[in-house]
Amino acid sequence: MRVIERVDEMRQWAEAERRAARRIVLVPTMGALHEGHLSLVREGKKSGERLVASLFVNSAQFAPNEDLAAYPRDFERDREMLEKEKVDILFHPAAAEMYPEGYQTYVDVEKLGPLLCGEFRPGHFRGVATVVAKLFNIARPHAAIFGEKDYQQIQVIRRIAKDLNFDVDVVGYPTVREKDGLAMSSRNVYLNQQERAAALSLSRSLKQAESLVRQGERESKRIVAAVRAEIEEEPLARIEYARVCDTETLEEVATVEGAAVLVLAVRLGKARLIDNTTLKP
Ligand code: PAJ
Repeated sequence: MRVIERVDEMRQWAEAERRAARRIVLVPTMGALHEGHLSLVREGKKSGERLVASLFVNSAQFAPNEDLAAYPRDFERDREMLEKEKVDILFHPAAAEMYPEGYQTYVDVEKLGPLLCGEFRPGHFRGVATVVAKLFNIARPHAAIFGEKDYQQIQVIRRIAKDLNFDVDVVGYPTVREKDGLAMSSRNVYLNQQERAAALSLSRSLKQAESLVRQGERESKRIVAAVRAEIEEEPLARIEYARVCDTETLEEVATVEGAAVLVLAVRLGKARLIDNTTLKP
């Protein structure tokens, strides 16, 4: 595995691979890797000839009051994990390489960006969309793989690929969970023992919603009420939102007609956890 820190070097490598007609797959990450990230890498290895993983804690997607400084970082550990997976290139740029002096261009996804997580994290998806557009231009992938755990993020990225004419296949990968159901996340390290136990209410509430829909429930209000009740059993959990939305526009829907997505954001101590499930009548 080769570690590349410079944008021009990364581009040169990608251009040479493209000239040789090899298929490049990109897996963007912010590090603090877990099995979720590694599953994306393994999936990418199957579908491409060259696998690029990027590791960049993107300051542009953190609001000033958020956890940029505290975000878990362990480059050596991450590097070893990716090396074991036989990743070809680890792209690991410094902040000044991605956002040099004078930087002032951002990608705004007007409708999808301010919804859901965007309501509670203003500017977050502007930061995500910007860095992903840059990564697409720098690593020139044919395909890029993203986790469905960050459901809104994938929809935002699909939108920028379409709207900005990126010739990149945006591939979603199902959420990887701990044995007890908790969705893996780099931010789970913020949870103490009690919070970790309370965090199970998220996946439990999703299961309950799925089961209600299987039993014939179609009213979003009643589904959300059951989800809220399940999470509110945990006094440590504070719900930011729990909504049933259209799978593409992410606008709220009153009933589950076609496929809909149930999306959740919950605060537990220092951690902000998100999870989702698709509801199919
Ligand atoms: P990060 O949180 O490090 O996640 C990197 C990728 O791993 C994302 O596509 C995310 O959806 C996926 N992922 C995280 N947890 C997962 C899980 N439990 N199961 C499956 N996939 C999972 O998301 C980001 O970084 C950043 O916003 C980024 C896209 C890199 C832009 O900075």
